[in-house]
Amino acid sequence: MEAPDPWPLRHLVLHSPRLELRPDDDAGLLELAEEARRGVHPPEVMPFVAAWTDVDPDERARSVLRYHWERRATLRPEGWSVHFLVRRGGCVVGVQELQAEEFGLTREVGTGSWLGMRHQGDGIGTEMRAAVLMFAFDHLGADLARSGAFADNPASLRVSEKLGYRPDGTTTRARRGRRAVEVRLLLERAAFRRPDWALQADGVAGCLPALGVTRG
Ligand SMILES: CC(C)(COP(=O)(O)OP(=O)(O)OC[C@H]1O[C@@H](n2cnc3c(N)ncnc32)[C@H](O)[C@@H]1OP(=O)(O)O)[C@@H](O)C(=O)NCCC(=O)NCCS
Repeated sequence: MEAPDPWPLRHLVLHSPRLELRPDDDAGLLELAEEARRGVHPPEVMPFVAAWTDVDPDERARSVLRYHWERRATLRPEGWSVHFLVRRGGCVVGVQELQAEEFGLTREVGTGSWLGMRHQGDGIGTEMRAAVLMFAFDHLGADLARSGAFADNPASLRVSEKLGYRPDGTTTRARRGRRAVEVRLLLERAAFRRPDWALQADGVAGCLPALGVTRG
């Protein structure tokens, strides 16, 4: 019998009409770091709870590598965070995270994402979130997906709204040393407003044990 692949995520690929999503690899992370260096949002807004973008561009790029290496290294079936690098026309334009704790029991996932500023506003954010939702609901067997965005982040809130999420209360956060309201969002499988395209997912079966997916 062949030995199991110690890192089956390298074979996982999600294809949507314009995008290809793969769990992060080092060559792609360097491209993602360059997107971060170029800029993720205007300086007057802060879409993230941890204000990781509030540093000089070179440090921002290095922090992308540190963060993703750390998350990749700590992936376990009991708790994981997969950072899909999002490529359009072969180039990394941003990242779409899908995470879960004890997925085999909870059947719940969470998402987070960002795109390089120059790639925003063209429907990519919606397409990449829809792609990982289809992966979670249809391939992993998720029942529910959660997300969240600051009340002053209309683009992210709109992406969630378009896909069928409903508000699920708020959380008060400290952001840049001030109070800020985060809107929690929840999407049940049946409420998912599916796009009019089908997801092609390759390399899924080998990843299921690594993601704690149990059948039944
Ligand atoms: C959030 C993000 C991933 C969305 O990706 P995107 O490709 O820009 O989003 P899309 O183009 O798919 O959709 C954005 C929607 O928000 C709407 N929108 C954008 N800015 C808006 C504004 N200021 N007011 C109202 N609506 C707005 C767009 O019109 C679009 O809705 P529509 O399709 O109904 O017209 C991206 O903008 C981003 O990376 N932002 C910076 C980081 C960030 O906020 N990450 C999320 C943290 S929770």
